[in-house]
Amino acid sequence: MRMYDLIMKKRNGESLSKEEIQYMVQGFTKGEIPDYQMSAMMMAIYFQGMNEEETVELTMAMAHSGEMLDLSGIEGRKVDKHSTGGVGDKTSLTLTPMVAACGLKVAKMSGRGLGHTGGTIDKLESFPGFSTGIDTDQFINQVNKVGVAIMGQTADLAPADKKLYALRDVTATVDNMSLIASSIMSKKLAAGADAIVLDVKTGSGAFMKSEEDAFALAKEMTGIGRGAGRDTYAVISDMDQPLGYAVGNILEVQEAIETLRGNGPEDFYELCLTLGSLMLVAGHLAKDKEEGRKMCEESISSGKALAKFKEFVEAQGGDGRFVDHPEEFPKAKIIEEIKAPKSGCIEHIECDEIGICSLILGGGRETKESEIDLTVGLVLTKKVGDQVKEGDTLAVIHANDREKLETAKERFLKAYTIADAPVEKKPFIKGIL
Ligand code: URA
Repeated sequence: MRMYDLIMKKRNGESLSKEEIQYMVQGFTKGEIPDYQMSAMMMAIYFQGMNEEETVELTMAMAHSGEMLDLSGIEGRKVDKHSTGGVGDKTSLTLTPMVAACGLKVAKMSGRGLGHTGGTIDKLESFPGFSTGIDTDQFINQVNKVGVAIMGQTADLAPADKKLYALRDVTATVDNMSLIASSIMSKKLAAGADAIVLDVKTGSGAFMKSEEDAFALAKEMTGIGRGAGRDTYAVISDMDQPLGYAVGNILEVQEAIETLRGNGPEDFYELCLTLGSLMLVAGHLAKDKEEGRKMCEESISSGKALAKFKEFVEAQGGDGRFVDHPEEFPKAKIIEEIKAPKSGCIEHIECDEIGICSLILGGGRETKESEIDLTVGLVLTKKVGDQVKEGDTLAVIHANDREKLETAKERFLKAYTIADAPVEKKPFIKGIL
């Protein structure tokens, strides 16, 4: 087999066989197929697409390119969760202890973020001492003992995807449905859970800008998961404005804790309950979503979810006192209000732009080597459908650099559209597959 022939085949719109996909993925992982040929293949796939069978084979080949984690040492059903990502997405921080407090076993691998804010791991590192660098044995022991553990993705988990994603990132080939679905699902399958709950975002702050594309991606991913014998559900949720109010690492951790205390923003709490109820159904702990939802609500109102979060933070070496006193986390040097330039109703928030404001302030990584400033970010006070008067506070900005603050503020104001007429709020959960 020759990579040249496979590129030509895909360029001409033909489909690739299982053997051809395996040859390509194995060769690329071992370094036998060079980046330039794989880049050409990614671009050919980008334009010609892949059918369902090809997407499944690509996923399987990438999942098997490294270690397939064996979680059989954990008693009960293991349920994983994944979000396609967005602005202010701190869901794992609240969701995982909430369902663990209901008795579910959550063994989760997470990544660091390249983008607007850090990933779950960066956010958890806001707790002094917290470590995600635990080995597989510690990971399994902790899930058995505490019910939840989060570890950094090991280098040997789907290494083909790691290499391929880095290549797609610099060759403008990230946003292809089959490539995204196979990338996400290869890691989820290799991570070993019995069931997977996916949060597929749609809107101006998501990969999938249209609902139609988000549903298509969700359908593709649930199809792959179920085909591989894992119970897979997908929730399609709104990312046309930031999730909750806080955007920025420590600010999001504080909001996640407030939600565990029962005082979370409506949209964020609703998302946690929707995903949580499905996780409990997938874990065979609830007979249906309604029962799962009640269990999740009870774990918050009883304080068990918050106590579980503290237990989890401490089990991974973090200072749990910050769970009781999140106001004691370090703060940015400059904290200022951004005022509404006119009166009216918030019609639209360009969600990506709010993420970029966080990035400008230093809250995210522009390159893998960038250091994240955990203290900076924004806390919105108004969202779509809210009425404002000129001079009302739209958001509070947290910065450590005056120049960055001014640049972020300017972009922030341009991201808001204020209408004269009232604006209806759109449903937050778009659907469940
Ligand atoms: N997240 C992933 O892990 N892979 C993609 O291709 C896109 C988002």
